[in-house]
Amino acid sequence: MKQLLFENQASCQPSSTWKRCHIITFGCQMNEYDSLKMMQMLRHEYILSDTPENADLILINTCSIREKAEHKLYSLLGRLRPLKQKNPALRIGVTGCVAQQLGKKLLHRAPFVDMVLGPHGIYSLPNMLERIGCGETALVETKLYHSFQIPYIKAPLTESSNVRAFVTIMQGCDNFCTYCIVPFVRGRETSRPVNQILAEIDSLVEQGVKDITLLGQNVNSYGRNLAEGVNFPALLHAIASSYPNIRLRFTTSHPKDLSDSLIECFSRIPAVCEHLHLPVQAGANRILKRMNRKYDIESYIEKVQKLRETCPDISLTTDIIVGFPGETDEDFQETLDLLKKIRFDQIFAFRYSERPGTAAARFTDQVPEETRKKRLAKVIELQNRIGLEQLKRYENKVMECLVENGSGMKLQARTRGNHVVNLTGSEHLIGRTLNIYIEKACHHSLKGRIVN
Ligand code: 5AD
Ligand code: SF4
Repeated sequence: MKQLLFENQASCQPSSTWKRCHIITFGCQMNEYDSLKMMQMLRHEYILSDTPENADLILINTCSIREKAEHKLYSLLGRLRPLKQKNPALRIGVTGCVAQQLGKKLLHRAPFVDMVLGPHGIYSLPNMLERIGCGETALVETKLYHSFQIPYIKAPLTESSNVRAFVTIMQGCDNFCTYCIVPFVRGRETSRPVNQILAEIDSLVEQGVKDITLLGQNVNSYGRNLAEGVNFPALLHAIASSYPNIRLRFTTSHPKDLSDSLIECFSRIPAVCEHLHLPVQAGANRILKRMNRKYDIESYIEKVQKLRETCPDISLTTDIIVGFPGETDEDFQETLDLLKKIRFDQIFAFRYSERPGTAAARFTDQVPEETRKKRLAKVIELQNRIGLEQLKRYENKVMECLVENGSGMKLQARTRGNHVVNLTGSEHLIGRTLNIYIEKACHHSLKGRIVN
């Protein structure tokens, strides 16, 4: 613990025995990364506990991007409360986006919570625990710093994550899409300096990581606030020249910032995998405008064409929101038409959900919940068909796959295009890149066998 304390922290006696921490993570890969950072910060004092029952510390890392986030949190806290009643020494912390949004209010509703830490506040976790250990209670850290820098923590990964890992390269978002809470809870866009990113990747590669995903709300605008004059394609080149043998991925890309030079990276940099997640959100220009997405559907389609010309094997995935305020049947039909035209490998489709404080929550023409549900079902039904047809193009082909995990003789591998392949083989193959013959396309995954 001592080594992790930030300067000028009050110090009290560190414990001589290991304590147990249980972490519950909701939401996106960014949250998974944040949870890993919290575990790493606690590593000198805590070990992970699989269950909350015998934990000394429970952390709930929350996500507020879609509906019922608060409701979900309060019902979880309601279930955890008896544990605190039984063991008053148990510490409970709520972190992440809902913590940011609710701040002190959370403590009024759940006074047994010991600390509330927003996405920037999580880096003061050791300090907070130290203060709680010295008798303080009800700590809230929800300040959002203007140019927040993620501290670099050199620490081992947890066992479950040593083939594939995430590296956050930027925090926050300045785009203010009208439906989205992220700019309010994660603050302004700030990129991490290149040397910090390289140092983190270096430590991951040393530990055997072979597949790295760079994370940010809008990675395509990486570098905007840095004095170094480096942009996202330059970052990819820098990483790939130092680590040519890793698989390099990134998410999320905003279509308005997808430049020709970034598209060229798919053909110029062998480490960059042939997969792009490019959220389109809707097929109708009228809706894209009201969402403040800053591109039209014609320019989106043009970028997809360029991507496919540059990298014919590329697999494309996207996010879709249905039932955005004012979306008519005709607008929705344009989303369905777009899916048929582009034929994504996979989509993540969501019912629009009003987020407090966002511009779209104030729009007066909200779409009835029933219509949103029906539209979502239609989108999913269409994509299930397209997705399976897209996966079938790999049948009877040999693909280069990285074995990521498995138990018994059941292994799970990943193609460069980000498709999951299930196969039979021994656990010692985890971490190896193998040629796999694809026998069959299933819904959302492939089935294969190892080629000698
Ligand atoms: N309602 C529904 N979906 C949303 N997303 C973001 N905000 C909302 C919202 N208010 C979706 C977008 C985004 C993905 C991460 O979550 O599609 O790309
Ligand atoms: Fe939200 Fe838009 Fe920023 Fe993505 S780009 S995080 S959808 S505001």
